[in-house]
Amino acid sequence: MLREPVSNIVDPKAGGMSGNTGRYEKRLSDLSGLYADHAAHAALLESSGDTVVYDVEEFRPGSEPGDLIYGVTRMNPGRVGSEFFLTRGHIHARADRPEIYYGQHGRGLMQLESPEGETRIVEIGPQTICYVPPYWIHRSINIGDEDLVMVFAYPADSGQDYGIIENSNGMRHRVMAGAGGGWELVENPAYRARTAATVDMIMRKTA
Ligand SMILES: [Fe+2]
Repeated sequence: MLREPVSNIVDPKAGGMSGNTGRYEKRLSDLSGLYADHAAHAALLESSGDTVVYDVEEFRPGSEPGDLIYGVTRMNPGRVGSEFFLTRGHIHARADRPEIYYGQHGRGLMQLESPEGETRIVEIGPQTICYVPPYWIHRSINIGDEDLVMVFAYPADSGQDYGIIENSNGMRHRVMAGAGGGWELVENPAYRARTAATVDMIMRKTA
């Protein structure tokens, strides 16, 4: 099928883009259970009136293999206790599909975890391209005091599997506020490592 070419104008500061085919947002209440400090989550929910944590505007031409879905994600600055605002995180349902993020505004991190439980952190600022290779679980985190805005693009048939993080009781590490406005990685004591059989199954989630 021959599609028409498209251009979209990104708003690097406010987030979003023209000509999008869809938009969604996640509020604090949508993200309950994600943060280590449940009491801080409940208190913030009470005091903030269920604030928006992040929103996404995307262009989704279809889901045929070989096509692309792309868009803009914007995340508010903030913390739950001393844990920075973050996205739910996922692995692609077709796990061999990659993704690109391109920083527009703010200071963020991409937290990546391999099926076997290795952690990698990529710092993302304006004009930084972050390559998320196939098979890595990924989530983004706003470690700055301003909105974090990034452009993303991934193969249209990737799909998202959010259960992978729930099944391991979160990612292996948490990114917490550190001394002097920095950040630090802390082990998640509730983390359940994936078995060799599960890792093997993930590595075969292709096609
Ligand atoms: Fe993704």
